[in-house]
Amino acid sequence: MPLNTKDLLKQMTIPEKIGQMMQLSPWFFVADLEKEAAGPIRDLKLDEAKIFSAGTALGIGDAREMIEVQKKYLAKNRLGIPLLFGADVIHGYRTIFPVPLALSCSWDPENARIAARVAALEAATAGVHMTYAPMADLVRDPRWGRVVESFGEDPYLLGLFAAASVAGFQGDDLAGEGTVASCVKHFAGYGAPEGGREYAAVDLSRQALEGGYLEGYRKAIEAGARGVMTAFNTIEGVPCTINRYLLRTILRDRWKFSGVTITDYDSLHEVLAHGAAEDERDAARLGVLAGLDIEMASTDYVNHLEKLVTDGVVDLSLIDEAVLRILDLKEELGLFADPFHNADPVKEQLTMLSEAHLALSKRVALESAVLLKNDRMALPLHPALRIALIGPYATSHETNGPWSWHGNNAKNESIAEVLRRRGIDLTIVKDGDSIASYDASDIEKLRQADVVLLLLGENAHQSGEAHSRADITLPGKQAELVGFVKSLHGTAVAVLQNGRPLVLENILEADAILETWFLGTKGAEAVCDLLYGIADPSGKLTMSFPRSVGQIPVHYDGLPTGRPNHHELHPREYVTKYIDELNSPRFPFGFGLSYAAFSYGAPVLSASAITPSESLAVTVELHNETARAGVETVQLYLRDKAARISRPVLELKAFRKIRLSAFETQTVRFELGLSDLSYRLPDGSVVWDPGVFTVSVGPDSAHLKAADFVLKR
Ligand code: BGC
Repeated sequence: MPLNTKDLLKQMTIPEKIGQMMQLSPWFFVADLEKEAAGPIRDLKLDEAKIFSAGTALGIGDAREMIEVQKKYLAKNRLGIPLLFGADVIHGYRTIFPVPLALSCSWDPENARIAARVAALEAATAGVHMTYAPMADLVRDPRWGRVVESFGEDPYLLGLFAAASVAGFQGDDLAGEGTVASCVKHFAGYGAPEGGREYAAVDLSRQALEGGYLEGYRKAIEAGARGVMTAFNTIEGVPCTINRYLLRTILRDRWKFSGVTITDYDSLHEVLAHGAAEDERDAARLGVLAGLDIEMASTDYVNHLEKLVTDGVVDLSLIDEAVLRILDLKEELGLFADPFHNADPVKEQLTMLSEAHLALSKRVALESAVLLKNDRMALPLHPALRIALIGPYATSHETNGPWSWHGNNAKNESIAEVLRRRGIDLTIVKDGDSIASYDASDIEKLRQADVVLLLLGENAHQSGEAHSRADITLPGKQAELVGFVKSLHGTAVAVLQNGRPLVLENILEADAILETWFLGTKGAEAVCDLLYGIADPSGKLTMSFPRSVGQIPVHYDGLPTGRPNHHELHPREYVTKYIDELNSPRFPFGFGLSYAAFSYGAPVLSASAITPSESLAVTVELHNETARAGVETVQLYLRDKAARISRPVLELKAFRKIRLSAFETQTVRFELGLSDLSYRLPDGSVVWDPGVFTVSVGPDSAHLKAADFVLKR
């Protein structure tokens, strides 16, 4: 029998209701309250009654801990309303998958679904009910550390990956086995901090919001995400956490979102620091008016809402609507029927890091790396070659990357270990980044080697939350290593691990560059398979790599300018440009090499004009020029040449991942309909305009063949 949550709500006192709207760390429920009363409990103005009325908990170690906390909690909760456990399960729980930015480079949303599915299977047995994922923030500034958690700079791709993640986490039945509720974040626009500086102000027009920044959240909600986390930033001067336009007009009224909303960590209280509330009581008032259901980490609701209600400032119905949504989610998760639901220490041991999960993680990793450069076919390597390994990550096991709390880097293999295991003739020469430390015998070892593998990049703390960088070249003196190897006339293959697009100008001398991001538990094996051609690189960038920091933001889908620059290398004077830098990025959106090489024919259109009810077929011949099989992601972009508002110079509308055998030719077909030719106005409405469109097809956003057609009235 499903629980009637409305009846339950009627039995609740006002403090019990308000308690549901508070989220605390599980620690509070097991702490010795007498002893701890002088610490955070005092600072947050909490007492035992308030603590044991909290509705949700943030983060949990494992199934045993969850069961202990839930038992203690239920023993003291008058109505026996179970705690809901939320946690950041971002790219895997114990089995770590590639970081989201890497995952998106596979250009296969099914990989996001698989990664989320495996993460949910593992997290659920550990007692997690809701994950704070996916992050659906559109990103355009690689200085921002959290681009590593994103699906890149394109709204369409972002929407597909966000929706697939939600489907993977939630499955068909939240009360079923091995599923967790998905809470999409950070609503809205958190991916656009000024200067890429973490927690800095965001200033987005409604056109920018509707034209791209909202797309990821919208698609996640359409896919059924049961939670939405608000962002730290303001939109139009109003902190997202208390932003009625975002939380009521867009989320509830327009998108019909019926799940729960939750603050980001402490973000209700931080409304004070934004200067958008007078005091804590005011922050609580503004939060509940905006339709904000759960306060994470801070305690303004629990300490002020009751008085606001009894003073007649806040209507009880606002509290009731929030609490009902929270109770409904708990019911949907099956927590009233079984508060320990899915948490199972025995199953936990069997599920975590199972062979099947590890195999999936490796498969996705193989598709997520991007080959950026490969002169004279330096790669793939022949197994008989003598390899020298250098660079700060030469012996590193740290392939998990940021946001992998439950992953264990120490148990991951390093690239060196995999190569040794495979019988490669290998010398680890040095793992630092200082040329000064290389003595004559090191230099001799480098000279003896056929190929020098340079394992370069960022560590897991150089990207992620609160880890923005102003200089996004390789940290330290790493770049010098490439020139050093080349000066010895060696073949230099740079293998990068990092969490953002980097400025790579000073390592372009390398013969080959393989971007591996953080590929997760099976990262090293996947990299070795790619280096030796056991698998072919097939990833394509989902964020442009700038030539210099001064170019940022550089993304493929900017708006046109009145003074376009048609001849980048020989520009006229009064056109859009820098006098000391090109406009184009070093590696454009969509770019990635294969060991095969593909050529494209011009797009052939089924008609030169279509009516709004007709569709347009676009076909293109794709040919594999080589004797190696390979995978190519064929990309289709549109430009709406004249509309009622200025439209981007290019917009990704479709793509196909095609496997071609040696010298094979395939005809790749796309079909475009009115929805592909439509766009959103700043008020969110969807419109289209008749006129000329350019359709372009190619291997990336900078190498396209185009044809025009007309959309008739
Ligand atoms: C992050 C969120 C995360 C939350 C809870 C915050 O600092 O911005 O993405 O879900 O912490 O860990």
